[in-house]
Amino acid sequence: MKILLLGSGGREHAFAWKLSQSPLCKKLYIAPGNAGTATCGENVDLDNEDNAAIHDFVVNNAIDIVVVGPEAPLVNGVWNYLRKMRSSSHIPVIGPSLQGAKLEGSKSYAKKFMQEFGIPTAGYREYFATKTIAAVNFLKKKATVPIVLKADGLAAGKGVVICQSREEAVAEMQEMLSGKFGEASRKVVIEEFLSGIEFSVFVLTDGDSYKILPVAKDYKRIGEGDTGPNTGGMGAVSPPPFVDEVLMKKVEDRIIKPTIAGLKKRQIEYQGFIFLGLIKVGDDPFVIEYNCRMGDPETEVVLPRLKNDLVELLLAVRDRRLDRVNIEEDERAATTIILASGGYPGSYAKGKAITGLDKVEGSIVFHAGTKAANGQVVTNGGRVLAVTSFGETFRDALAVSNKNAEVIKFDGKYFRKDIGFDL
Ligand code: AMP
Ligand code: GLY
Repeated sequence: MKILLLGSGGREHAFAWKLSQSPLCKKLYIAPGNAGTATCGENVDLDNEDNAAIHDFVVNNAIDIVVVGPEAPLVNGVWNYLRKMRSSSHIPVIGPSLQGAKLEGSKSYAKKFMQEFGIPTAGYREYFATKTIAAVNFLKKKATVPIVLKADGLAAGKGVVICQSREEAVAEMQEMLSGKFGEASRKVVIEEFLSGIEFSVFVLTDGDSYKILPVAKDYKRIGEGDTGPNTGGMGAVSPPPFVDEVLMKKVEDRIIKPTIAGLKKRQIEYQGFIFLGLIKVGDDPFVIEYNCRMGDPETEVVLPRLKNDLVELLLAVRDRRLDRVNIEEDERAATTIILASGGYPGSYAKGKAITGLDKVEGSIVFHAGTKAANGQVVTNGGRVLAVTSFGETFRDALAVSNKNAEVIKFDGKYFRKDIGFDL
């Protein structure tokens, strides 16, 4: 198989690492990739939001399957583009069509979908920019604090604001509706606040059946004790100990089954990963958000715990025979700790030399924001590396990740030392 993987983060290095272990993988291209993916396959300089360039590459290089890492190419319609062109219409894309990607690309669409199919989620209402006065009136008179405001569209992970007063919510709503996040916030969803512990469930579907992958929990805030601004994620644990069989049965019956059935009922083409951002309220799971891809950094603990050959799994998705596959999980716990550039998620420096990678023992180091320059590996992003380890318990695994997080060095290195603190 010749595989093209789109993306360049820690998630994509984990994908590249796992795909390249398969005897079925004869050639792996990563576009654009990073210094880590270059050790698993060949990086190619391709803009993964340029559908025509992706199409040409896929056709010219006789690619057998395209695996999409991040949401942007999906929300940008790569599935539809390749399907529409005669020369690429037969090439499977792991990832949904535009309609499926809307579950992530539009909060309003996702809420309507959940409402229609009876999937548990926070109550909501929505306002367009043309109804700013009505939105403000609602917030001033009726909203209960805390108030959750969500830009409808993609806003680089910054589109959700939790307001602690009605005044703050009014000000935020006015800014959003007047274009704080561009077109993405011309429509805003107001949600009921849910209180509980969050976790991430990953589902692989072939459009008919589905399989549940190892469960994880990530840590989104930059600061210890879950404080400070949101990031892409600063660490992850799999499995989270509080997610037991009883809870997973509820997740499957109340959320996964109706989601898959809903996609079918709406005739949405979806062969790929569904990432359910869930919250446990009391003993019950609710959906915080859908994503149309795997999580980052969750993938860096989920794929290492997956024992199956990933290429075989993806071929089962292509051939709609996922029902005949058994998912095998490593019994051990896995954790990952993100080493970030100082200043992230705000502005940060790039191009800092990374040393100590050769001294790491007992962890897998996935590259997130790195590149090779003059024979050296240098920082090239906010999240730089993900240090993944196994252990009998997640605490054992964390001890190894923490030790290696110290061994690796670069100017401005920052990492959270409290991943798993709430478990
Ligand atoms: P999102 O960008 O949709 O992942 O949301 C970012 C974070 O906001 C989530 O991980 C939650 O911690 C929080 N959040 C979103 N919606 C709610 C809600 N309805 N109640 C409580 N917290 C929420
Ligand atoms: N770690 C959360 C995400 O990938 O969106």
